[in-house]
Amino acid sequence: MEKILDHPLIKHKISILRDEKTSTKEFRELISEISMILCYEALSDAKTYDKKIKTPIKETIGKVIDENNYAFVPILRAGMGMVDGVLRVIPNARIGHIGLYRNEETLEPVKYYCKLPKNIKDKEVILLDPMLATGGSAVSAISMLKQDGVKRIKFLCIIAAPEGIKKIKEVHPDVDIYCANLDEGLNDIGYIFPGLGDAGDRIYGTK
Ligand code: PRP
Ligand code: URA
Repeated sequence: MEKILDHPLIKHKISILRDEKTSTKEFRELISEISMILCYEALSDAKTYDKKIKTPIKETIGKVIDENNYAFVPILRAGMGMVDGVLRVIPNARIGHIGLYRNEETLEPVKYYCKLPKNIKDKEVILLDPMLATGGSAVSAISMLKQDGVKRIKFLCIIAAPEGIKKIKEVHPDVDIYCANLDEGLNDIGYIFPGLGDAGDRIYGTK
């Protein structure tokens, strides 16, 4: 399943993100804010438990989630830009890291790091990467999580190309995708168009 956000404010913020004149500071803030909203959407099926609560007026039964059931896994580097936003939604979630970069010629993902929380196989894992282009990086990261025994995975991205969504659905049809905007496609060097350029470079100001 893929869920594409459809809200005028998200469209407004995506337009600012795309603008090449947007500063590094504003770019980071927007990635963070949109990630928070994507995380709310992805958690709309979260299991809740009853909890007795005493308000200043009376006792009542409230609904709570178990934050220990969740782990966020950003794909380095650009996925790190989404972490502070999603942590505002589930502050006690565990965090793992998967390091991948695309070979610029072949566009194939190259793995360089993986550190996942203990007992990750028992958690719902929310994988984070702002850009879903060919889908190679996301598919590879999902395979790494599954090799560690993870059964429940959701993928959050800000901008997706149809090619990337198709690839995840073919290889990992059990993974739900939450995306803020579906773009037109990929250009001849594998960049999303209209896209926003290289997300990692724009978050970290490296170019
Ligand atoms: C970008 C992006 C994704 C990947 C998407 O990372 O953050 O991880 O490309 O492309 P794909 O869907 O074709 O695999 P990049 O390789 O630029 O690394 P970085 O985050 O370290 O800049
Ligand atoms: N990675 C990015 O950061 N941007 C793209 O358009 C494609 C892959």
